[in-house]
This record gives sequence, structure tokens and C-alpha cells, in this order.
Amino acid sequence: MAGIRIVNLSKEYRINGRKINALSDVNLEVEDKSFVTVVGRSGCGKTTLLRILCGLEEKSQGQIFFTNSKGDVTSSRPKLSMVFQEHRLMPWLTVGENMAFALGREDPKVRRRKVDMHLELLGLTKFKDAYPHQISGGMAQRVALGRTLCYDPEIILMDEPLGALDAFTRQNLQGEIVKLFINKQKTVVFVTHDVDEAILLGQQVVIMDKGRIKKQLAIGLPYPRRPDSERFFKYRQEILGAIMGEQGD
Ligand SMILES: Nc1ncnc2c1ncn2[C@@H]1O[C@H](COP(=O)(O)OP(=O)(O)O)[C@@H](O)[C@H]1O
Ligand SMILES: [Mg+2]
Repeated sequence: MAGIRIVNLSKEYRINGRKINALSDVNLEVEDKSFVTVVGRSGCGKTTLLRILCGLEEKSQGQIFFTNSKGDVTSSRPKLSMVFQEHRLMPWLTVGENMAFALGREDPKVRRRKVDMHLELLGLTKFKDAYPHQISGGMAQRVALGRTLCYDPEIILMDEPLGALDAFTRQNLQGEIVKLFINKQKTVVFVTHDVDEAILLGQQVVIMDKGRIKKQLAIGLPYPRRPDSERFFKYRQEILGAIMGEQGD
């Protein structure tokens, strides 16, 4: 059980002496077992935020705390896992082996049981012995999701995991991610540049612009959501307005 509290987080990069403020004074509360989507234009700092959260990148300033279900700061670091836009499966391992890999040195019987369970859950049983190059992009991303679920983290960070998929596959997987979230009760931070995807998935939508959080919006719609409802339309307008803002480009 874990949430995240981000306090005054900033990140600067330097390229040839030129300073880039990838994140400026970001404050965000991700409650335990909540689904937060982060949406914004390319280059607004979404990936940097996730990379800092999972420890792949150093922050420049600010603090990151992990919290328990009551919202109190804990000293223990929760189990955390990241899903990327590219599946990052190991090409020399089968689908089943890729998923088992996440289970490390667990007892072989337990490993087999967990892998089989997640293969079943994600409709991958038939592909257990296939290699990554033998399956479609959507299937591979499903395997990447399965691998993460086998690892069983408390917090899942997703960086545009559906970004490379065709619209139809994407829609299917969006639905499945919502179902998984409801059943598995994980804390999720999901990054996307797709406004509809942000509203379909998130209980909270965080809108980023030029390294800052511009707006945060609670989405008061029950799952599964329909993009053609009037309230959905209103959220879309509000988010697009915040992203396009003054610049209107
Ligand atoms: N390793 C890096 N070195 C220098 N600049 C970087 C690096 N990573 C990202 N940036 C810059 O930081 C800003 C935010 O990038 P990023 O977090 O990747 O945005 P997003 O994921 O929203 O597209 C961009 O201006 C990008 O060019
Ligand atoms: Mg990115």
C-alpha cells in the first residue's frame, strides 16, 4: 500500500551550458490505490517526472515521499515498477519466460503458477511459448503489463505505454487497464499526450505545461467511461483549454 507525495520538485538539464528546466516546482499528491494520469504536450516533462519517481534520474531540487494508506509518510520504499512505450521484452526469452523473469528467484512452482495466472488474465495463454518478434505490438505490450503484474509492485508508473499502438488495439488495452486497476488495487501514475486517454483512465488528471503543473482535475465519472458522453466532452474541453492556453498553437 503506497502513495506518493511530490514537494517542490525541480529538474534542470544542461546542454552545452544551456539550462533546460524540465520540471519546475512540481507539487503532487498521488493517493494510495489511486489512478492519476499526467497529460501534456511533448517536451513538457512527463517522462522526466516518471524517471525521477522510479529512481532512473536524479532530481535537482525538492522532495519525494512515499505514503501509506492514511497519507502518512513512510520510511520504507515501496515496490515500484515502470512500463515504457516500447515493451522492452527480452528477445531471446519466450512470452512466459519474460514474465517469469520478473519473479526472480521465487520457487519454480510458484513462478509457474503466477505466470500462468497472469497469462490467463491477459489472454496470452496461447502465446506462452512465442518469442517477442512473433507477436503483435499490442500483444507485446500486454506481455510487458503481465511482467509488471507478476512482479506485483505497489506503484505502477506507465510512460505512454499505448502510444505506439493502433487505435483499435489501444482502445482494447485502455479497457483492460481500467479492469486491472479496479481488480488489483494498485497505485498508478500513467503518462500520456492523449487527452481522451487521460480522461478515460484517470481519477485525477494532471495537466502539465513547460515543466509545471498547470491544472489538476478530478474526473467524477464511473468506470468504464464513454468518450461520447456530455460530461466527458466537458472535461475534454477543459483540459484542452488548459493545454492550449494562452498560446493557442
Ligand atoms: N537527458 C536529457 N538531457 C537533456 N535534456 C533532456 C533530457 N531528457 C529530457 N530533456 C529535456 O527536458 C524536457 C522534458 O522532456 P521529457 O520529460 O522527455 O518530456 P515529455 O516526456 O513530456 O515529452 C525537454 O525539453 C527535453 O528536451
Ligand atoms: Mg515522454
